[in-house]
Amino acid sequence: MHNIRATVASEFEQVNELIVDQLHSDVDMVENIGHYIVDAGGKRLRPLLVLLSAAALGKCGPTHIKFAAVIEFIHTATLLHDDVVDISSLRRGRPTANAEFGNAPSVLVGDFLYTRAFQLMVQLADMDILRHMADTTNTIAEGEVLQLVRAGNAETTEQEYLDVITRKTAILFAAGCRGAAVLSGCDEARSQAMHDFGLNLGIAFQMIDDVLDYEGDPATMGKNVGDDLTEGKPTLPLIYTLANGTADEQALVRKAIVEKTAEDIDQVLAAVQRSGALAYTRAQAQHYHDLALANLEGLDASPARSALEAVTALSIDRDH
Ligand code: IPE
Ligand code: IPE
Ligand code: MG
Ligand code: MG
Repeated sequence: MHNIRATVASEFEQVNELIVDQLHSDVDMVENIGHYIVDAGGKRLRPLLVLLSAAALGKCGPTHIKFAAVIEFIHTATLLHDDVVDISSLRRGRPTANAEFGNAPSVLVGDFLYTRAFQLMVQLADMDILRHMADTTNTIAEGEVLQLVRAGNAETTEQEYLDVITRKTAILFAAGCRGAAVLSGCDEARSQAMHDFGLNLGIAFQMIDDVLDYEGDPATMGKNVGDDLTEGKPTLPLIYTLANGTADEQALVRKAIVEKTAEDIDQVLAAVQRSGALAYTRAQAQHYHDLALANLEGLDASPARSALEAVTALSIDRDH
């Protein structure tokens, strides 16, 4: 990751400074919870993609730095909300904000971060970006609701799963990469290619997240495993097992989803491994990784383009 950041190291530092600067609020609780989640770190993958996209398209300037901070603020807001909805207790190696401060403060500070992102975006004074980000955040909200509605539903199809992860996760990656192109003055075709790159990368990224929720190591990931099962989330590893596992495995997984319980997590883990569901999910992530790389084909060779390719590879070959 360090080498990948090298091409935009100083810009990356400026994004981090801007993020901290923009956390400021006269209301102590806002600032405390904001710092609590931001200071815990996180991979900062989305702002890095914005900066590298800009650099690969020519030049990474001040508007890109501001836009990268916007994208990370929106991401952080969704995490605060997501951990309340998922009743998660560990994030970035710490108790979640909801575990530490309660649900109501987490939701409200999430709203602060969302709206701060739009305040920053207005400063960019780009109507295209504003419109696209309004649509993007609206779609993310729909994605999270859609996921909530599908929880406990063992009939969820692979296509419906794809729809949920596209909306809740991939669309923000897409908006970041597309926005970088728009701010660089690229034409519609190039902006669309960068959008598609982000979208495919984001889909691959979430598929691996869903694998890690079964076979990851909490100490490395900084979040718990088994949260998806507890919520009855029909993610791809389960959908595949329901279609391809033995009758016993299917019954086991169906029960876990419908009853929204992780009490049989060890057997479910054994089933998703034995049925080939985790391998299948990884192969699907690889497929979207390949599509993402193809979306970069029109870019001139450069250190930034190589770094974008390396981030794409890292998004599927990762343990946290
Ligand atoms: C977590 O995203 C939410 C998903 C979309 C899976 P990240 O894995 O990028 O979280 P941080 O920012 O590094 O903590
Ligand atoms: C990602 O889904 C949530 C958002 C993009 C808002 P998950 O619920 O799988 O993310 P984690 O695993 O809690 O980070
Ligand atoms: Mg979650
Ligand atoms: Mg997850």
